[in-house]
Amino acid sequence: MSPDHLLPLSEEQREIQRVAREFAAAEITPHADRWDREAHFDRALVGKLGALGFLGMLLPEEYDGLGLDTVTYLLALEEISAADASAGVLMSVHNSLPTQMILRYGSDEQKRRFLPGMARGELLGAFALSEPDAGSDAAALRTQAVRDGDTWVLNGTKSWVTSGSHADVILVMARTDGADMRRGARGIGAFIVTPDLRGFSVGKKEDKLGLRASPTVQLQLDELRVPDANLLGEPSSGFVYALQSLDNGRLGIAAQAVGIARAALEHSVRYAGQRQQFGRPIRDHQAIQFKLADMATRLHAARALLYQAAAAKDRGEPITLYASMAKLAASEAAVAITTEAVQVFGGYGYVKDFPVERLFRDAKVTEIYEGTSEIQRVVIARELYGRDQGPGAGAGAR
Ligand code: CAA
Repeated sequence: MSPDHLLPLSEEQREIQRVAREFAAAEITPHADRWDREAHFDRALVGKLGALGFLGMLLPEEYDGLGLDTVTYLLALEEISAADASAGVLMSVHNSLPTQMILRYGSDEQKRRFLPGMARGELLGAFALSEPDAGSDAAALRTQAVRDGDTWVLNGTKSWVTSGSHADVILVMARTDGADMRRGARGIGAFIVTPDLRGFSVGKKEDKLGLRASPTVQLQLDELRVPDANLLGEPSSGFVYALQSLDNGRLGIAAQAVGIARAALEHSVRYAGQRQQFGRPIRDHQAIQFKLADMATRLHAARALLYQAAAAKDRGEPITLYASMAKLAASEAAVAITTEAVQVFGGYGYVKDFPVERLFRDAKVTEIYEGTSEIQRVVIARELYGRDQGPGAGAGAR
């Protein structure tokens, strides 16, 4: 099964998918278990993905990007994620969040300064929205940005920052409306922070269940001075920019989840044909057949939602609703499918001899980051009711 069954792929899309698959088989799959075991972030992989154009897939050619559509980008991301979900999240965050925020809301000077290096993989991007006390309720963030002449002085702690310890360009959301937060979601700016700025330091590195080859860190901003030239767009609109970009990000995480789930299904089908119990391959037992059938059906449904949402985006349609549906369905499918994969493997699924153990651990976070499954349901319900009337509208409890 592949996305070809869902939508007619162009020659170019098939070619990019093939390149991604071959690159993953040669450069990622042989190392994925060791990178996981050693919690090793492979900076060389960033350069290789950049050389291939995979870190500028959605950027126009004038910024050294490939200028591709969303469907093509997600086809490649699915392939990379099927090989290693840690590589997948690096690619997803970089392509969907910091680069897209600069492309959409940055000045010409900011685009020229950052995007070509980001597209080529010389500059790795990160996105810093969450804080220790502002996760699902992201607009409750407290990091302060106070204007002082032609600079902004930032103070605060950002958490759960993917690739934050290795990033060269970090989009930091911070309050511009003072400590009393009087403007709520409309009192937040987005700043382009580079790690060479005085006052920037990397804090705690999280010791995670899965995605262990992807560093997730806290960032400390201590009297960090950001030049005015690094403010993105309007100082009061950073939260809206971040949420708009998260629509793209959620498609990326859905593709990552589909990649993880696909890998789990492929391993399970192969193993079920080899493993003999009660005198025949276990795939001949109906208990296993039913599992494989359910796994394949859930995967196909998740993938259908994903590529339908991606095609809508490529047609220029609003995708907030469909991105949340795709992310919700794909992440829950990935958790269900990897859980069943462990069951198909039995004891061998519970140890590190086969990749399904890693896939099972990696899948879980897709239900948590870039908006938990509960937040996706809030977004979906609000889109049904209209944003002003849905559950948690305006996060009134803040
Ligand atoms: N597109 C554009 N604008 C949007 C939008 C969207 N999808 N969603 C909301 N907005 C706008 C609203 O219209 C509103 O603007 P106005 O003031 O002009 O009306 C503004 O943004 C504020 O919106 P809300 O009032 O809806 O905000 P809220 O405080 O009620 O929160 C939420 C909404 C959906 C709960 C949001 O906080 C949310 O998505 N929370 C989850 C946070 C999240 O996903 N974090 C991910 C962290 S990043 C990460 O995980 C990356 C990684 O490294 C892997």
